[in-house]
Amino acid sequence: MLLLSIIILLSLRSVECHLNNACKTYYDYLTIFVNPNCFYIPDNNDDVLNIIKRQTGVGEAHHVSTEDGYVLRLFRIPRQNPKEVILLQHGISQDAKAWVSQNNDSIAFLLWKSNYDIWLSNSRGTFYSQNHVSYKSSSEEFWNFTFHEKGYYDNKAVIEYIKTITKVSKIVYVGHSGGTTSSFVYASTRPEEAADSLKLIVALAPVTFLKYYKTPLIETLFRSVQFLMKNNLHKQFRVYSVFHHNSLFFKLVRFINRFFVFKKVIIYLSSLFLGWTPHEFDPNYVNLMVDQFGSAVSMKNLAHFYQLADAEKFQYYDYGEKENLKHYGTEQPPTYPLQNIKTPILLVYSVNDILSQEQDVEFLYSILPPEAKVCGKMKINGLNHGDFYYGVHRNEMIYNKIIDLLEDQVSNCLNIQN
Ligand SMILES: *[C@@H]1O[C@H](CO)[C@@H](O)[C@H](O)[C@H]1NC(C)=O
Ligand SMILES: *[C@@H]1O[C@H](CO)[C@@H](O)[C@H](O)[C@H]1NC(C)=O
Repeated sequence: MLLLSIIILLSLRSVECHLNNACKTYYDYLTIFVNPNCFYIPDNNDDVLNIIKRQTGVGEAHHVSTEDGYVLRLFRIPRQNPKEVILLQHGISQDAKAWVSQNNDSIAFLLWKSNYDIWLSNSRGTFYSQNHVSYKSSSEEFWNFTFHEKGYYDNKAVIEYIKTITKVSKIVYVGHSGGTTSSFVYASTRPEEAADSLKLIVALAPVTFLKYYKTPLIETLFRSVQFLMKNNLHKQFRVYSVFHHNSLFFKLVRFINRFFVFKKVIIYLSSLFLGWTPHEFDPNYVNLMVDQFGSAVSMKNLAHFYQLADAEKFQYYDYGEKENLKHYGTEQPPTYPLQNIKTPILLVYSVNDILSQEQDVEFLYSILPPEAKVCGKMKINGLNHGDFYYGVHRNEMIYNKIIDLLEDQVSNCLNIQN
């Protein structure tokens, strides 16, 4: 009891003081405040722009408006005369912080140090992008979107803005998970424009077809959302979005995490959702990972993902037969015209990722047109869905290879295109 009180007291103090919040091994966390293998990372719970400026000495914030009135915040780690301009697009329940939450070893900084101009987007509704020209962020109208609008409107606006500011003709899009879903919407519904603006889409842990995903926990979440929305209960309770970063739930999670020293348990828990590779997670970043998780998601978006799994198709939002007739002129929602894509896409997936399943990604690859496949695909062993950010081997397995590809050392696929 005494020990527990001391730990609680110390952890409360650690919120204000510069007490250790990271350790080299899980074992070190047990004695985190006195262990020489533990240290303090100021990035925990800090603003993305502060983190960028602290780690790189530069950093900018920009605002972009979409055609349908959302105001998105963009962060930039600028680089003069860069080799390429790269847009990093996070996935569901995350925001730009995902790419800078690995201390000085973050993916955004790795790419920036390799001479790329880095842009980090924040999708509509997430922590940094909760403004609209006419809707309040508490209204039902504000949350009336899915990955469809993120692809059709957000991606368009952000990519055009970056091209205007940097004056380059084509940029590179790197998306993870839900950030790949919206890129497939963008590249298939605006095929000419996407091919004109994007040199390459790197799709990390791609999510389009969800026939084989195997997560009872996520399935339960999806089913609950479906039930709520079918019965219009979300309107009654005015719950149009979930996973708000500053919700009581996430505040509590972060608070408990501070004094919970058995960090391996947290990694076991997350592995249940993401794929069983607990040995791969880098122990240095447990607190950073917990702190960045949670950025608002619309209920409609969750429902749309569930529909993909249910229908085993990559299709538009299903409003029900009567409403579908009004929206699409057909009783069934149309599927996204992936065959129209003209942009090169590199699919990167891992066999241990239970959300982005090998069979689903291989099926996606099989139906992409030849123009989209010039750079092929990358199959990885040993990473789960989250290890794309936090895995010990992420750089050697993924990011160094992407840099090689962009620098033409392994393949000239991008030159064949242009
Ligand atoms: C990050 O910082 C640590 C400690 O200051 C240092 O040992 C390590 O080499 C740095 N890593 C990178 C990628 O710069
Ligand atoms: C949501 O958007 C759809 C079109 O995308 C529209 O038909 C519907 O009326 C909107 N609902 C609300 C509540 O704004």
